[in-house]
Amino acid sequence: MADAIDEYFEVALEIVKTAGNLIKEHVDGFASFDMKASDIDFVTEIDQKVEHTLISGLSKRFPDHKFIGEESVAGGANCILTDEPTWIIDPVDGTMNFVHGFPHSCISLGLTINKEAVAGIIYNPIVNQLFTAKKGKGAFLNGRQIHVSQVKELRNALLSYEAGTSRDPEKVQCVLDNFKMITSKGHGIRSLGSAALDMAMVALGGSDAYFEFGIHAWDIAAGDIIVREAGGVCIDPAGGPFDILSRRVLCASSMELAQELAKELHQYYPERD
Ligand code: IPD
Repeated sequence: MADAIDEYFEVALEIVKTAGNLIKEHVDGFASFDMKASDIDFVTEIDQKVEHTLISGLSKRFPDHKFIGEESVAGGANCILTDEPTWIIDPVDGTMNFVHGFPHSCISLGLTINKEAVAGIIYNPIVNQLFTAKKGKGAFLNGRQIHVSQVKELRNALLSYEAGTSRDPEKVQCVLDNFKMITSKGHGIRSLGSAALDMAMVALGGSDAYFEFGIHAWDIAAGDIIVREAGGVCIDPAGGPFDILSRRVLCASSMELAQELAKELHQYYPERD
């Protein structure tokens, strides 16, 4: 199994790097976009081209593998996770950033087998940050091994979270309540505009935890394995086990911090993927 994962990963990495050039060509922003689930949920032709490049390249090499891609699902494909090797793709995570020319967007590619993430690649080609992990082999930034921070208490934690792409009043209220909670109890708040890069920062030890309500499997599949291989944890924001299709995530440098945060968080339960 480990040898097979190595092979899948190496093939995927080359395809991701090639697809990254499509993003790099537009570092100053991309003015033409369409809206999807809301008026702040964007898609560009680059999202579609990157997803096409990844799926066609991977399916040529691994014809039996399955795919869950953000733009394919937006186009009507099913979002069904089986035990088969499945590539979970966010072609441009941080599309809002990409549109505005805020240099914080990435390709996020996770591979699940038996519904568990076993390899992940998060690649921001604009600032050349390549986060990678394979099951049991550690997590890396541009080839250098990375580890989560030592922070175990909320009062010492730098946290990131996102307002997301929904303007549902209940969701907006939850975002505001959590802002208040963190500004009263934590070190500080960051919001990077990319769930995958938020998770990569936890893996790097730059931040200590990240949570979000309303994300999708493609935003967090790669981040899940990268955080865990860096020594961190991924759980449900209410404290239970992580469920990749639940549209809820909390990752942290330690289980102590994750559980303390889970107790404090205002909760929101979106419809599942
Ligand atoms: C979005 C980003 C954003 C997060 C949203 C995601 P997209 O992904 O990760 O930071 O708040 O929940 O949908 O749409 O840019 O691929």
